[in-house]
Amino acid sequence: MRSKVTVVGAGMVGATTAQYLAAKNIADVVLVDIVEDMPQGKALDLAQAGPVVGYDIKMVGANDYAATAGSDVVVITSGSPRKPGMSRDDLLRINKNIVQSVTEEAVKHSPDAVIIVVTNPLDAMCHAALEKSGFPSERVLGQAGVLDSARFRAFIAMELDVSPKDVNAFVLGGHGDTMVPLPRYSTVAGIPITKWISAERIDEIVDRTRDGGGEIVRLLGTSAYYAPAASTVEMVEAVLLDQNRILPCSTFLTGEYGINDLYVGVPIKIGAGGVKEIIEIELLDDERKALNHSADAVRELVDAMANL
Ligand code: NAI
Ligand code: 2OP
Repeated sequence: MRSKVTVVGAGMVGATTAQYLAAKNIADVVLVDIVEDMPQGKALDLAQAGPVVGYDIKMVGANDYAATAGSDVVVITSGSPRKPGMSRDDLLRINKNIVQSVTEEAVKHSPDAVIIVVTNPLDAMCHAALEKSGFPSERVLGQAGVLDSARFRAFIAMELDVSPKDVNAFVLGGHGDTMVPLPRYSTVAGIPITKWISAERIDEIVDRTRDGGGEIVRLLGTSAYYAPAASTVEMVEAVLLDQNRILPCSTFLTGEYGINDLYVGVPIKIGAGGVKEIIEIELLDDERKALNHSADAVRELVDAMANL
């Protein structure tokens, strides 16, 4: 039987995730949104692209969860963007309520799924989904590190005029200004970038990576969706095909890296069932300090969310 993936939120990130997923032809897809007719329309449009692109998965749109039953993976992209005049706490409250309500509905129909959260603020929303789902933390994770690392990789490739396929890079920490790009673990065809690029330029590339989401918002007037969707699909594929990829994902830490009971982006082995192993890489003092600083920023949001 073919795998099934539910994508909740058929907006920019959700619909693009469905599109990239369909192109891989590895799972039927159910797109869910509260807006009437919209997910059905997008799903039909994507189904009609199948004969041309060459996929034959089933693509369904819905406003309720009946069609999602038995999903192997549930991707949560539903949420509201921050609007002018809206405080951080307003956004936290709105998206917490959305993530919790869709999690509750989704897990009723797919009790064995792996949940991949995309809604921002990402790491805090993972807590909301974990709590509401009642799932073991291995089955609730967040997408941010793959995207942040992809941005870092793209900028390194642009700097050296090499194929991004040959660039590997890691970004750890929370999905925000405090994220921790790790130049020391970033390589081009196995060669550390610290041997190729001056320290000054690396600092500039790191800053651009941290601002990667903001740069797109300034250009587009809305947040990114192609790279976020592609990054999400990389995680979904790793789970469905039990690939044991090593990817940076927002993961519930219970003592790893000296961090307890908190979702933070770290490298994990990801495959069937979600998180198979949390990989602890050696960090220098300043790298560890930066990771702790980032974890503190996530904890502040999680605490604020608990008091709403
Ligand atoms: P969007 O506004 O285009 O789509 C959001 C969709 O969620 C809308 O269609 C809306 O109707 C739907 N929705 C709202 N409440 C719902 C509910 N209760 N049930 C079902 N659907 C519901 O926004 P976009 O650009 O797709 O972004 C989605 C989220 O992803 C945002 O929170 C954004 O900040 C986040 N994001 C996260 C990234 C990451 O790396 N983690 C990267 C890019 C975006
Ligand atoms: C991004 O990094 C807004 O989280 C979104 O593009």
